[in-house]
Parts: sequence; C-alpha cells; structure tokens
Amino acid sequence: MKYKTIKTDILVIGAGGAGIRAAIEAKISGLNTILLGKEVLGCAHTGMAMGGMNAAMVRPATPEFHAQITIEGGYFINNYKMVRVFAEEMPARIHDLESYGVIFDRLDNGEFYTWAGPKQKFPLNVCVGDYTGREMMQGLVDEARKLKIKYTDEFFVSKLLTVKERVVGAIGINIRNAETVVFQAKSVVLASGGAGRMYRVTTNAASNTGDGYAMALGAGAELIDMEMVQFHPTGMANTPSTLGVLVTEKTRAHGGILRNRKGERFMSKYYPKEMELAKRDEVSRSIYTEVALGLGTKNNAVYLHVDHWSKEKILEIIPDVYEQYKNTGVDISKEPMEIYPSMHHMMGGIKINEWGETIVPGLYATGEVAGGVHGANRLGGNSIAEGQVFGRRAGIAAAKFAKKNKFITLPKDKIKKEQQRIFSFVYRKFGVVPHTVEDKLKKVMWDKVGIFRDEKKLQQAKKEVAKLKKEARKMKTRTTLKERNRDLQDCLEIENMLVTAESVIEAAILRKESRGAHSRTDFPKTLEEWRKNIVVKNDNNKIVIEAISVIE
Ligand code: FUM
Repeated sequence: MKYKTIKTDILVIGAGGAGIRAAIEAKISGLNTILLGKEVLGCAHTGMAMGGMNAAMVRPATPEFHAQITIEGGYFINNYKMVRVFAEEMPARIHDLESYGVIFDRLDNGEFYTWAGPKQKFPLNVCVGDYTGREMMQGLVDEARKLKIKYTDEFFVSKLLTVKERVVGAIGINIRNAETVVFQAKSVVLASGGAGRMYRVTTNAASNTGDGYAMALGAGAELIDMEMVQFHPTGMANTPSTLGVLVTEKTRAHGGILRNRKGERFMSKYYPKEMELAKRDEVSRSIYTEVALGLGTKNNAVYLHVDHWSKEKILEIIPDVYEQYKNTGVDISKEPMEIYPSMHHMMGGIKINEWGETIVPGLYATGEVAGGVHGANRLGGNSIAEGQVFGRRAGIAAAKFAKKNKFITLPKDKIKKEQQRIFSFVYRKFGVVPHTVEDKLKKVMWDKVGIFRDEKKLQQAKKEVAKLKKEARKMKTRTTLKERNRDLQDCLEIENMLVTAESVIEAAILRKESRGAHSRTDFPKTLEEWRKNIVVKNDNNKIVIEAISVIE
C-alpha cells in the first residue's frame, strides 16, 4: 500500500488552544513545525469554551491563592508541582494572548474584569463575554498564521510510530480522500483533546473522541486519574438536538438560580453555604439527585433562572447562552432554562511532568489529553488556561529534544500493519455499522460510568466494553475510499473511545472511595489511604493499573 512521507522536526497533533500554543513555541525555536488537526483551523473544541480562564490578574488574588484553590478543588490529588507552575505562569500567558490580539473584558478603570467561580473568594476568571474560547482561538490562529506555521487540516492521526521505545513520528489519513501520510519527526506533541464523545450527553465537540489517550497507551506512555470524569452541572436539556450544550458557570456566578419542578431552591438542601456556587461535582450530584427523586421537569431536568435579571444584564453577561435558548424558542429573560449535567472534561490524561514530558522519549503532551493539574475535580476556568501554560512548555521542551536528537528511520513493518488495520474497515465484505457500536458505548458510559458509580455497574460496564471491543473489530464502512469517508473516521475514533473507556472503567473500579468527580455509592467516604493517583499502562495489549503517591 502506498503512502506519502513528510519530514518535520516537530509534529504537533491537535490544533486547539494547547496545540497551537505548543506549535507557536516550537516554531519560534527556529525548527520545522507541522501542526495537524482533525478540523479546519480555528474550529477545535477550545472555541466552545465560554466562561473564561483563571489567572491572578487583579489583587487580592495571587498565584498562591490560585494554586491553593486548584489543589483544594482537586481534592488533593493534583500534581502540586504542576499546579504551582501553572498558577505562577498564568498571568504572563494572559499577556501573551493579548499580544496575539485577544481583547479581554476590562472595567472602565482599565483593570481586567474578573468574576468568581466556585471557591474563588478572590475572582480569578478573565473572560471575553461568554465566548472566551472563540476569541482566544482567533488570537492563536492569527499568531500561528503570522509565524507561518504549516497547518494540515482535516487530518486524522491514527497511531504514533515508535522505534526502541522512542517516538519517531506518526501515521494517519487525510480525511478528505483517505490518503495515508506518514510524518517523520524528531519530537511529537500530543494535544488532541478529551473524550466527551464516549458519553451520550456531552458539552464536547464531535472531535473529542479520546484519540490521544489510545495513541499514547499504544506508544508506551502512562495515563493518570482516568476515573476522574467531570460532569458540568448545566448542559441544555430542553430539546433533543441541543442536549448537553454548555450553559456557562458564569450564569450561576452572576446570580443564576437553580430550582426544581416545585420551584424549590434545592441547593439549600445539599450545600446551604455555597448554594449554586458549590463545586461542579457537588452541583451535578445535587441536580442528579433532585431528578432521581422525581422533582425534575418533564424533560428530566431542573430549572436555571435568570428571568429575574434585566435583559440588558443577560445580554451583557451571557449573550451566547441567550442565543442558544432563543434558537430553541425559549426567551430566558422571561422563562427559566431547563438544564441537566453534561459530560464536560477529562481531569485525567497522559502522565506528564511540568514540561509536558511523558515517559516515552520524544513524546510530549498538553491540554485536556494530559493529566495532573486538576486532580479529582477541575475548577471552572482552569482548562483553557492550563493549555496555555503547558502548551508553551511542551513546545519549548519538544524543540529542545529535537535539537539534540536525529531523525530515526521509520518502522516500515509498523506502517504496513497500521495501514492494514485502517483499511480493513473498508475492504471487509460484511460487518457492523460503526454507529451501532458507538451508540452502545455512549449508553454504557452514561448509564454505568456516570455521576454515581458502584462495583456492580462498573463491572457490567467493563464486560460490555470488552464485548464492544470485539464487535468493533468487525466494523465496516458503508462507502468507498476515494470520497470523504466519515464512516472510516468513525471506525478509528470508536476504537480510540473504547480504549479510553476501558481505562476510565479500570481506574474507577480500583478506586474504592468517593473523591471529587468519582462518587461511589458503595464507598461513599473520602479516605486518606486513597490520596493517591491511579496510573494506567499498556503491557502487551493488556491494561495494567496501579496506585501511586501524589507528586507534591
Ligand atoms: O462553565 C463554563 O464556562 C466552563 C468553563 C470551564 O470548563 O472551564
């Protein structure tokens, strides 16, 4: 089978906020850099971020305070070293974004407008309306263009190539025509985002299919904290076509009120002090419980009210949320929103150090695909922020590695094997339609690996995912190769989601306690002996799992 080979010093896989930031730094180092993305440049999931990003820009907030609440919010299993670096460097990264043209909201006196999310006694959230991700992406894309970074869009990387445990490049297909391309690189930065799409209801873009977790495991890297899956408390719940779409936390932070079907402000039962601004895991469990008690709306949701705000306030603070509901026929200045938790973020991911380094020489990771900073629960505003700090650092470290190391001859046998895997989905005569596998996976994850878990449900999920992995080997595309083949992309993504799901389930089974986003009804207490991180590895195609001490 034919393939094209492209050589580059540094390959960055994933063109969201973290990936572009890494590519900027790699390019500034003077080395050849290629940035790959599954989507058209600027359309990555980062663009959907709404509320803002945390940085100690305005006193009395300080980096120390930012670090402290990130660790408390993460239930003390964060990588403390990474958190300190993150909080200290974040203000400088905000200034970088400004230099790329991002215009953050400011007060009349010129100070940054900051708002306070959960745990923020001193406000840290810097924003651009409720479309911060979109504006940030615009600035990053403009900077990438200014630096003439080579971008290959609509490209699906399916496997990292390794030789003697060192990463030497990656292989994948052009989504438009299924042409195979092999990138030979001295170092690779993985910034391929999260895995929200393995859940039935998610705030995530279609591209978040866990590709990076699966590829990293395949290349010998370790994953950490995979059981920690964040459900954002407020996803849209009033129409099937908008199910799960994010309603920013900024809404509750500015006085949005949650009520059940009976009009009761139910957060007073669960978190009377914090009310709507309890942590995300806490608010999500409260909403889940209200609906489970039969106190939800006819759409199995609860109400989020801003109808006591003036229309001017709504349009100033949450213009996108207003539009989102208006498009479904709801005027939120006159009636409440229906909302329900929606899978939002993977706290866990590829295990890295503070330079984005993995245990595989030449392989770096950053952004949601990497783990460590957030522990058991991420504070709102720490995600797109973290990608700026560690994206830059991964770019610098990958460039340093590429300067010291030579290209390695590509492993032809592995390339051939991967091509056979990819195209087997097309060439086999009969098989399973990919969506059927995907739909089953989404249901398993939503029903059994969701907000509340227990041994029985997790063991069932494990069995079902193992069965789905077998079924997935028989997937067959419904169309031919030469055209854009969405089914082929689906097949590859589904295989990645299954590997990711398996890691989440294994880690969730091992952690016999409740901590942050991981709530086990059979182990409801948080236990000091479990102040540990769970690491997942791949040993000869078998998942190996262990608990390790927290890095302080
Ligand atoms: O609610 C939000 O605007 C989400 C922000 C975040 O996840 O950081």
